[in-house]
Amino acid sequence: MEGQKKILCVGLVCLDIISVVDKYPEEDTDSRCLSQRWQRGGNASNSCTVLSLLGAPCAFMGSLAAGPVADFIMADFLRRAIDVSAVAWQVKGQTPCACCVVCPPSGSRTVFLYDTDLPDVTAEDFSKINLDQFKWMHWEGRNAGEQVKMIQQVEMFNAKLPEHQRITISVEIEKTREPLYELFPYGDVVFVSKDVARHFGFNSPDAALKGLYHRVKKGAVLICAWAEKGADALGPDGLLLHSDAFPPDTLVDTLGAGDTFNAGVLYTLSNGGSLQEALTFGCRVAGRKCGFHGYDGIKEK
Ligand code: ADP
Ligand code: FRU
Repeated sequence: MEGQKKILCVGLVCLDIISVVDKYPEEDTDSRCLSQRWQRGGNASNSCTVLSLLGAPCAFMGSLAAGPVADFIMADFLRRAIDVSAVAWQVKGQTPCACCVVCPPSGSRTVFLYDTDLPDVTAEDFSKINLDQFKWMHWEGRNAGEQVKMIQQVEMFNAKLPEHQRITISVEIEKTREPLYELFPYGDVVFVSKDVARHFGFNSPDAALKGLYHRVKKGAVLICAWAEKGADALGPDGLLLHSDAFPPDTLVDTLGAGDTFNAGVLYTLSNGGSLQEALTFGCRVAGRKCGFHGYDGIKEK
C-alpha cells in the first residue's frame, strides 16, 4: 500500500561520544565535563531517528564494520524500529566514531569525526535493494560519484512508473567539498547548508537560494537552513519562502539540529504537505530538539 511505503536515508552512521560541558575547554587542560553519553550519530542515521519518532516508516543505508561499536549502533536502530536490511557490512575498516563536545551555555556543538577508513556504500550495493518498498529516498552527500549512479538507478525505475508511484529524491549538500556539488542537479529536493552557502560567498539563506538555484534541475526545490535564523526555500515558481526558527526556552543541545530539520521537511513533504508547511514544521521540530539532549523529547508535545 502507498501509505506504508518507507523513506530511505543513505549516508553516515557513526558512534557519537558526547561530552556535555559548561565551558568549551582550553587546549592542553584536564577538566571534568557535566555528563557523557554514547549516541548513534551521522546525518542520515539521525534523520532516520527523527522520522521514526515522528511515526514515519523508514530505513537506513550506510556502511558498518562488525564489532562492539556496530553492535551498539544496531541495537539502537532496532530500538527505533528503523529498517537496517540495506546496511552494507564491510570487511575492512572500522565503524566511524565522533567525539562531540556539546556546550549548552553557548549552544555550540564541536565534532571530531573519523570516518575515512571504512568503504562507503556503492552503486552496486544499492542495486541489490528492492525499490518498490520506498516512496522517498534521501542522500547525505558523501561519495558523490557513486551516489549519482544510485540516483540514476532510481531515475530509471521512476521512468517506467506513473507520477504518483515515483520515488521522490532528496539530497543534502552539507560539507564544503567540491565533489559534492555534483549532486545539485540530482534532487527533487536539495538541502544546502549554511557552510556551503558561505563557501560560495552568500551570507544569508535567501541570497544562497537565489545564487545557487541555477544548479538544481528543472522543477526542483532548494532549501537552506540557517540555525537561529530559521530556514528558506525556493521552488520552480520563483517564490522565496521563509520560516523563522522556534528557539527553545533554554538552548541545550544543537547536535543534529540540521538532521532533525531535514527529517521534519521530508516527513511533511512525503505526506503531501506544502513547502511552507514543511519549512515551518522542520524549524519547529529542530527548534524543539535544541531544548533537550538527544532525540527522545521529540515525541513529547
Ligand atoms: P546544523 O548545523 O545541525 O546542520 P542548522 O544550523 O542548519 O543545523 O539548523 C537547522 C535548523 O535547526 C534551523 O533551521 C533551525 O530551525 C534549527 N536551529 C538550529 N540552531 C538553532 C538555535 N540555536 N535556535 C533555534 N533553532 C535552531
Ligand atoms: C550531527 C552529526 C553527528 C555526527 C556528525 C558527523 O549532524 O551527524 O551525529 O557526529 O554530524 O559529521
